[in-house]
Amino acid sequence: MQIHILSVAPELLESSFAHSILKRAKEKGLLHIHLHNLRKWAINKHGQVDDYQYGGGAGMVIMCEPLANAIEELQQEKKFDEIIYMTPDGKTFNQQTANRLSLKENILIICGHYKGIDERIREHYVTMEISIGDYVLSGGELAAAVVVDAIGRLLPGVLNDETSALTDSFQDNLLAPPVYTRPANFNQWQVPEILLQGDPKKIEEWRNEQSLKRTQERRPDLL
Ligand code: ADE
Repeated sequence: MQIHILSVAPELLESSFAHSILKRAKEKGLLHIHLHNLRKWAINKHGQVDDYQYGGGAGMVIMCEPLANAIEELQQEKKFDEIIYMTPDGKTFNQQTANRLSLKENILIICGHYKGIDERIREHYVTMEISIGDYVLSGGELAAAVVVDAIGRLLPGVLNDETSALTDSFQDNLLAPPVYTRPANFNQWQVPEILLQGDPKKIEEWRNEQSLKRTQERRPDLL
């Protein structure tokens, strides 16, 4: 899978993809992330990519011209399955959207900054708008990192144990059950006996019960 990200601050994203699971995905050639600095398509030698908004008001808006030129140039290399704009007024990201996006081949993600991007780019190029939650970040980069991480770990072969993504929270609209590791007794705090007995059927039943209980208590809206 190829993910292109267009941003005025691509350096904010670099370290997110340099570690752990996404690093492995890149090394195995399963995920290619291409960071593009929008200033490469600036409208003048001062590196300008934004301007005041029509109608007045504080905050700069990223202009059509650099964005359109960047998108057109990148589109000449490949056709994108989705052009995603990260924005607090987009559709709230969830596991289902991550699953769906992990099946795509080529994605372009546009990160906004300041007041956002000129609406005409949203109308004419963007195919999907994603918010990661009801709060405003200072730019779309951290939101894009969240989306790329959630997608990247779903790609076949990225996780060591392929089934482990299937037992994540939310995959069945259920939260994941509690997990424990050694020692079985820490400060007199015991691991549930059933996990120590080694009966796979009973363990699975226990985990399902715990998932359901946890979901009922914490996120009844999922049920
Ligand atoms: N850009 C600023 N805030 C955002 C959010 N909550 N989700 C996605 N992109 C954003």
